[in-house]
Amino acid sequence: MDSVNSVSVIVFVVLWSSSHSALSVQPRIRLSHKELRELNRTWVFQGSGLSLPPQTMLLDEAHERLYVGTRNTLYSLSLDRVNHQHREIVWASSEAQVEDCLMKGREKSECANYIKVLQQYNGTHLLACGTGAFNPLCATVRIGHTAQAWQFELEEQSVQSGRGRCPYNHNSPVTSTLHRGELYVGLYSDYWENDAALCRINNHSYTRTERDDRQQLNEPKFIGSMVIPDNDDRDDDKVYFFFTEREVDAEGANKAVYTRVGRVCANDQGGQRMLVNRWSSFLKTRLICSVAGPNGIATHFDDLVDVFLLKNKDKKNPEIFGLFRTTSSVFQGYAVCMYYMDDVRAVFNGQFAHRERPEHHWSPYEGWVPFPRPGSCASKVNGGEFSGSKDFPDEVLRFVRSHPAMFSPVLPVYRRPVLLQTEPGGRRLTQMAVDRVQAQDGHYHVLYIGTDDSVVLKVITIYNTDTDTIEEVLLEELQVFKVPVPINEIIISAKRQQLYVGSEVGVAQIKLHQCNLYGFDCADCCLARDPYCAWDGLTCSPYYPAGVYTKSRRFRRQDVRHGNAVQLCNGLQIDGVQFQGVEERQVYGVEGNSTLLECTPRSLQARVLWYIQRGQR
Ligand SMILES: *[C@@H]1O[C@H](CO)[C@@H](O)[C@H](O)[C@H]1NC(C)=O
Ligand SMILES: *[C@@H]1O[C@H](CO)[C@@H](O)[C@H](O)[C@H]1NC(C)=O
Ligand SMILES: *[C@@H]1O[C@H](CO)[C@@H](O)[C@H](O)[C@H]1NC(C)=O
Ligand SMILES: *[C@@H]1O[C@H](CO)[C@@H](O)[C@H](O)[C@H]1NC(C)=O
Repeated sequence: MDSVNSVSVIVFVVLWSSSHSALSVQPRIRLSHKELRELNRTWVFQGSGLSLPPQTMLLDEAHERLYVGTRNTLYSLSLDRVNHQHREIVWASSEAQVEDCLMKGREKSECANYIKVLQQYNGTHLLACGTGAFNPLCATVRIGHTAQAWQFELEEQSVQSGRGRCPYNHNSPVTSTLHRGELYVGLYSDYWENDAALCRINNHSYTRTERDDRQQLNEPKFIGSMVIPDNDDRDDDKVYFFFTEREVDAEGANKAVYTRVGRVCANDQGGQRMLVNRWSSFLKTRLICSVAGPNGIATHFDDLVDVFLLKNKDKKNPEIFGLFRTTSSVFQGYAVCMYYMDDVRAVFNGQFAHRERPEHHWSPYEGWVPFPRPGSCASKVNGGEFSGSKDFPDEVLRFVRSHPAMFSPVLPVYRRPVLLQTEPGGRRLTQMAVDRVQAQDGHYHVLYIGTDDSVVLKVITIYNTDTDTIEEVLLEELQVFKVPVPINEIIISAKRQQLYVGSEVGVAQIKLHQCNLYGFDCADCCLARDPYCAWDGLTCSPYYPAGVYTKSRRFRRQDVRHGNAVQLCNGLQIDGVQFQGVEERQVYGVEGNSTLLECTPRSLQARVLWYIQRGQR
């Protein structure tokens, strides 16, 4: 501070950068577990001896409960406060079952009932299945409330074999979805984990993929599944499965891992003479998530880690988000790609993949395709002349059996990831949930991404049509658990504006936003670019789209797309330079003396600059 005139004015400016950000940059706000607790933004359920990661979690908004399946225990938690008034069912394997499991040479830790399948069976019952110490079991659980009390009770008389519905080994990947009373599962169905299958099994029927058919499934890792209608005809409903598998090359040797989306008709009963108890409609194709490199060589993210289906008002068109990682052992990168159902359907309606012989390359099948088109359902939309898949002509079944794959892959929206993490030594990403948020300037996808060190990252991605670029804004970095553990479940309740996050140390609930943390003036709030928040003239507070309140509200200032606080909140101009200044403080100094300039901005993306205005009197 030399040569400062007698009295100088020093102006301090917090300069926000609104440049490109990625997961590697500083978040707008970083909150430790302690801070989250002090802010009352989180509650954690640590269970009564809940010592293992939840194997599965299920949201039940109608009953306002969260069900958690763990080792030997099933919990029912309150959605309001996960750590208040929980109920539990102990469902352990019997001593004889554990003994039997140990006799088979299994470890003590494996010989327990890991509850891995939890589905809402109907309005009053859940279907729960567990590994049962390498002897899978299923049972129904009574839920809901009577006039007297909460119900949460396993119906002992309903316990039955869970073979084909739950794996034997708790480390085995499984995905399930329940539709009209039927459970659809992707799993390894046998003790030795050789028999991977997509199946539907109930008391009366049993339908699955072919056994030992590597064209259909080859060492799959099951990630997700969902029933998605094609149109208003329920007979056309299809079950979609998301998984990875290995490509079989010409020599029959295993090659690269690819991500697949496969589907079957929900009403598929298999064939009459051939494909008995086998899907007559199973088709699959590849999901691509890649970025073009500078030299034209694309980097592929082929290993699906998690999938999230963001439901829409239009049930036929959920948006699909995949969290992928590279398969390279040298370079660890992650990407999130988004897909539209229209593109998925177009691929399944497109050309089948074909190769003359195993040593040939795949090419589009150019020959005659039988009717009804292989992979379609027995429904009115398809002419209504087949009352079920058992009526399908043999040539249709033969074709679908020999051509289970489509030629074209499904490409992501914008032809590239919406989010990338390619920094060496970056965090490992484990889970993802997505919210659709209506803001002043359009709707945004808010991604919640779980890491292997207890963190949930809250990110928005903004597509710019003019420049064909995607901007990622890391809004918040939330340390959900006290100790760094991998996050293995994230469930979102948009209705309650809460996340429910599972790990081996418990289940946490976190509010999706806390707008007042962005500061106490307009520019702070606007520059945060959090679509949940807006400046209402007094505070940074939750933004509700017009129409939510009947009473007309004050003008709400929000600019998620550009974060242009200058325009919204009147900018600050110094020496002809326009700053996106959000805070100004004047400190008077005296020549020949020293003055402490102090400032700690809330945002980690802020830069603090001090300017000297000389010669002011
Ligand atoms: C959190 O909740 C406690 C008890 O309900 C209350 O005393 C405290 O003031 C709250 N803290 C904040 C930051 O709201
Ligand atoms: C739900 O399913 C259970 C088990 O099959 C059955 O006992 C119960 O009556 C069903 N409830 C309703 C409302 O359909
Ligand atoms: C399935 O069969 C078992 C045993 O035969 C029976 O106890 C159970 O109630 C049946 N479940 C349904 C849903 O029909
Ligand atoms: C110089 O600064 C110190 C601390 O800021 C203050 O106590 C002191 O009065 C100042 N001296 C003059 C001459 O202004």
